[in-house]
Amino acid sequence: MSKNEIVKVEHLNKEYVTDGKAFQVLKDISLTINEGEFVTIVGHSGCGKSTLLKIICGLVDYSDGVVERDGEKVTGPVPQCGMVFQDHRLLPWLKIKDNVGFGIKDLQKDKKEKLVKEHLELVGLKGFENSYPSQLSGGMSQRAAIARGLAGDPKMLLLDEPFGALDALTRIQMQREILRIQKEKETTMIMVTHDIDEAIFLGERIVVMSARPGEIKKIIKTDKYARRNRGSAEFAAYKKQIYNFFFEDSADLLEETEFMI
Ligand SMILES: Nc1ncnc2c1ncn2[C@@H]1O[C@H](COP(=O)(O)OP(=O)(O)O)[C@@H](O)[C@H]1O
Ligand SMILES: [Mg+2]
Repeated sequence: MSKNEIVKVEHLNKEYVTDGKAFQVLKDISLTINEGEFVTIVGHSGCGKSTLLKIICGLVDYSDGVVERDGEKVTGPVPQCGMVFQDHRLLPWLKIKDNVGFGIKDLQKDKKEKLVKEHLELVGLKGFENSYPSQLSGGMSQRAAIARGLAGDPKMLLLDEPFGALDALTRIQMQREILRIQKEKETTMIMVTHDIDEAIFLGERIVVMSARPGEIKKIIKTDKYARRNRGSAEFAAYKKQIYNFFFEDSADLLEETEFMI
């Protein structure tokens, strides 16, 4: 393992068993994540993206292959690994500050309070410490979920379609925020998304997966300036590359549509 590799996955296979029948979800996945990197994963629903994230953080076991975190085999829940999901999963009966501090254990009260305060500020929720989840908008709830994911100062944050339920403008705003936060904290981030633009805008590398069983079909390395400029020709080229992978007939469709117009 090279010095800055934080996650190493090699020839990973995963099967689930339902009603006594095994079916393969992930097939021969090999992927290395470097410290401080932002990697995005795109793929059809059901191709095993969430399963892959859960295996990386040790919440789900695997059938065969290698999964390592900081050079150590993953055999159970991985320390220093935060998670953010599509639904914020805040506890409705707890104030925002208590939700954010929920996972922080083994710390003195004042240190914990300081961490919570810092992270609420980081995500732009200063002043909402004493609010309840029902009093926050969708975007604010996701901010709180990000703060909770980062409050324990993890080395790595796994995001599973975190902005999937947000409206388009809030979503773009949150994409910008997560970049700012990543720059500030230098946390390694792996984000699963359905949104191809989002995958390009955020991903230093974009992992493109095939339908079930999920296999990595492409890893696209993006240029920093090109991915941050949604109007650039390079951005459009990345987009075309991904579209063409998922929808092989998209060029024909374009022809047909033009004809119809
Ligand atoms: N705990 C489980 N037991 C059995 N099947 C599961 C389990 N979790 C997920 N699956 C199935 O595995 C496949 C991949 O699921 P998932 O990783 O959630 O895909 P994705 O996140 O790409 O939509 C789906 O068909 C799903 O129904
Ligand atoms: Mg999923």
